[in-house]
Amino acid sequence: MNKKVFVTHQLPGDRIHELSRFCDVNVWMGPGLISAANLREELSGCDGLVCMLTDRIDRDLVAALPELTFVSSMSVGVDHVDVAALSARGMPLGHTPGVLVETTADTAFALMLAAARRVVEADQFVRRGNWTPENAWAPDFFTGKDVSGGTLGIVGLGEIGQAVARRAAGFGMEVLAWNRTRREVPGIESVSLDELLLRSDFVSLHVALTDDTRGLLDAERIALMKPGAVLVNTARGGIVDEEALASALASGRLSAAGIDVFEQEPVAADNPLLSLPNVVVAPHIGSATFITRAKMADLAVDNAIAALKGQEMPHCVNP
Ligand code: DGY
Repeated sequence: MNKKVFVTHQLPGDRIHELSRFCDVNVWMGPGLISAANLREELSGCDGLVCMLTDRIDRDLVAALPELTFVSSMSVGVDHVDVAALSARGMPLGHTPGVLVETTADTAFALMLAAARRVVEADQFVRRGNWTPENAWAPDFFTGKDVSGGTLGIVGLGEIGQAVARRAAGFGMEVLAWNRTRREVPGIESVSLDELLLRSDFVSLHVALTDDTRGLLDAERIALMKPGAVLVNTARGGIVDEEALASALASGRLSAAGIDVFEQEPVAADNPLLSLPNVVVAPHIGSATFITRAKMADLAVDNAIAALKGQEMPHCVNP
């Protein structure tokens, strides 16, 4: 009997067609995201799962699926999966590192520039018809903060953090970084997290969300940030205390933020960050280019095919 694999979304790229050579493939066709109840039902009797970061693969779900032998997520982050529950069953978890590095670094920089130079606020000002002779170019008109020549603090110096640092070099920025392992990279000054927060004009987050990093930027650490600093988060919302960040932005202690990720996604309409004009927001689009998403889908399928063949996944979180 053919093995069965469930895929929680239609995937871009070509490799998905390969998957059906190795198993029966059932793809969730929507509309929208699959619910937890539907996921559980669809996965019943399946050998494998190809999922997205929007699917919660928790201990209860894993326990309810005795036939499941692997999970492959089309994401680099795996905070939506209970990795320990999979490992306890000897179940490999695949992910998609590498291919989204440059694209996500571009997003971080886009948000940094947009937040510092008030691009979204200015766009809305023009579209709303507010650009009138009474309210036009003046010495203090839409003044923002210089990115060029500023000090950038990178929290988490993995591949994406390093790609952001490369961009910062082109902007003549001084680059500081904090990394749990104190990784040394030429041209980047390795400092403690507190020192980074005290000295940086811009702070960009690039750590994975784990038990160690949840709430890493809490009220106390936000209070350490340099007055007028800009925070950029393209990593995960759960790393930051959103209420504390919103207060610091509302009071003007921090000048702006560029936020692509939220603790709850999709973000609730009453999230305090959404009502602040000095916050540029995006709906978790860090890796959203046609090419990168196709590469991520291809890697997710490669991981699944390897598992179906009884081979090691090319990108396994829990080898
Ligand atoms: C990931 O893959 O974890 C990213 O957040 C997707 O943009």
